[in-house]
Amino acid sequence: MVLEKRESPPSGRSILGIGGSPRKGGNTDTLLGQILGAAQEGGARTEQVRLPDLQFQPCVGCELCRRNGRCTRFDDDMTELYPKIVEAKGLVLVCPVHNYNVTAWIKAFIDRLYCFYNFNDNRPSGWSSKLAGQGRKAVIAAVCEQEDKKDMGFTLEAMRMPLEALGFEVIEELPVLRIFEAGRVSEHPEVIAEARRLGTLLGEGVA
Ligand SMILES: Cc1cc2nc3c(=O)[nH]c(=O)nc-3n(C[C@H](O)[C@H](O)[C@H](O)COP(=O)(O)O)c2cc1C
Repeated sequence: MVLEKRESPPSGRSILGIGGSPRKGGNTDTLLGQILGAAQEGGARTEQVRLPDLQFQPCVGCELCRRNGRCTRFDDDMTELYPKIVEAKGLVLVCPVHNYNVTAWIKAFIDRLYCFYNFNDNRPSGWSSKLAGQGRKAVIAAVCEQEDKKDMGFTLEAMRMPLEALGFEVIEELPVLRIFEAGRVSEHPEVIAEARRLGTLLGEGVA
């Protein structure tokens, strides 16, 4: 039997934006700012977090959260982020492509969301998510230098699949190609317009 413990459902129209690039003021920060800006103009409350500015450990697989229902292994900057994730009805993940995949920060962040799962004692374990069934929605975006979408490798999938498993409906995803220099995405009005469209959509989705 799978435990069905749930977090309290999100209360307002709040959206949490998570950026996974170590380059401050880079393309990820710009895209995330535009997505959140458009959502805010539509009436949502937003907060932008740059993961590399936080101090947190990757999941070490201690499984203490299975027993305790929350991560008790670490008391780091994720401790403050967990309630914000629970409170937000919308989530935005934006990440540059690093070697065909998400950056180490986004991977570590996603792995630390393991404590939102309920597991039973079967092997393989039955599982459910404490965040599921609450109308949570997400948008994701990835930015890379190369021009073919295959050069993004697993980046969008590596964000979409775990978010869906956690109970988010991923309503849109934006692949941004051919951008190398930090912040150069600002010079592409068509990409900025797309980012803003995602933000507006998510803002409406959490209304
Ligand atoms: C370690 C590293 C690995 C990268 N791997 C890829 C890659 O596999 N494919 C690609 O197209 N671009 C790759 N890039 C280029 C970045 O994705 C690109 O410069 C992006 O615009 C960076 O976004 P940012 O400014 O938000 O950090 C890589 C960059 C770095 C630093």
